[in-house]
Amino acid sequence: MTDDSKPEFCLSRRMAMKGAAVGVIATSFVPSDIVDAATGEADLSREVYPELRIGKASALVEGEPLAFAYPLKQQPNLLVKLGTAARRGVGPDRDIVAYSTLCPHMGGSLRGRYRHDVNALGPCPFHFSTFDLTKGGIPVHAQATQNLPQIVLRLDGDDIVAVGVIGLIYGQRNNLEGGDFAEGAQKPIGSGRRLMRG
Ligand code: FES
Repeated sequence: MTDDSKPEFCLSRRMAMKGAAVGVIATSFVPSDIVDAATGEADLSREVYPELRIGKASALVEGEPLAFAYPLKQQPNLLVKLGTAARRGVGPDRDIVAYSTLCPHMGGSLRGRYRHDVNALGPCPFHFSTFDLTKGGIPVHAQATQNLPQIVLRLDGDDIVAVGVIGLIYGQRNNLEGGDFAEGAQKPIGSGRRLMRG
């Protein structure tokens, strides 16, 4: 993980409905396109997301993002303590979140564009889209029509662990295809039989 403070993700309603249809069984996320839209069933022959420890909650400084790659090594993200409770936030204050830094509109890099005064990421350098990190990465300005993909986090004691992605990362047909896992990312034990949790 590197310092993102210097110049360097949504459970869509559709995917949420798919997830609800699949049901709650275990601890790892299945990419959205693994779930059949018609039946709501998952194709377990394909991969589930790896897990990656990305930092210590106690070490995060509010408003100072950290950059990390996940789930593949070419997919950039930021981890940030917002200082205000957020959708799917983890930690004692529910304010630690992580998102892709690839704009879902046309892939502009959002690295280094976190605005702590409004807990937003943007504007994108290409067409100025800006995303609210307290509300699942919803676009609040300009061209983008999709939420910023959000990295799903779990807290293991003080360790912050990335366990999945909600939303399709720009340029991907499947968030897990087209490259190697990020350094340190590992499939969870027993992942071959696991499905989505809520
Ligand atoms: S690529 Fe980001 S707004 Fe178009």
